[in-house]
Amino acid sequence: MKNYVKILLAMVGISALSSAVNAQDHSAEGAAIYTDFCEACHQVNGEGYEDVYPPLKDNVFVLGDREELIYLLLEGRAGMPTFIGDLEVEELTTIVNYIRNSWGNAAGDITQDEMNTAYDEIAEEDDGFGPGN
Ligand code: HEC
Repeated sequence: MKNYVKILLAMVGISALSSAVNAQDHSAEGAAIYTDFCEACHQVNGEGYEDVYPPLKDNVFVLGDREELIYLLLEGRAGMPTFIGDLEVEELTTIVNYIRNSWGNAAGDITQDEMNTAYDEIAEEDDGFGPGN
């Protein structure tokens, strides 16, 4: 019986822990996306790689016009790939807000609506290949 109570308590503990993980803030999810999709080029802490991959830290483009930044993530540019096929539209918002508010950047958040509008607009540009092409 004692063991049963212990197991029960352990289970309660585990479920409390997992709900804490579910309540992950923006930055934890953003950091995970950054590691998986951006860090290979833009490097740890958004430092970039000289003359090849621009730093995202303290970068006027990242801190500047929200719409241009949103379109860059959706459409890509030169050596910068598009992420429209790899990330969900909510994840795109998360990563934009992550890079705008990490490593000392403090540019404020874009809204999910802003991302949705741009996403829908690109999806509607029906060139026969679908979004991102
Ligand atoms: C395969 C390498 C690669 C990956 C992966 C990559 N980028 Fe880039 N990124 C680039 C290159 C190269 C440029 C510069 C493009 C140019 O010359 O116009 C760039 C440019 C940018 C810029 C514009 C910087 C500026 O000063 O104009 C931003 C913002 C950016 N990337 C964000 C991201 C984010 C966020 C991710 C992850 C979701 C990501 N990148 C993943 C290669 C990459």
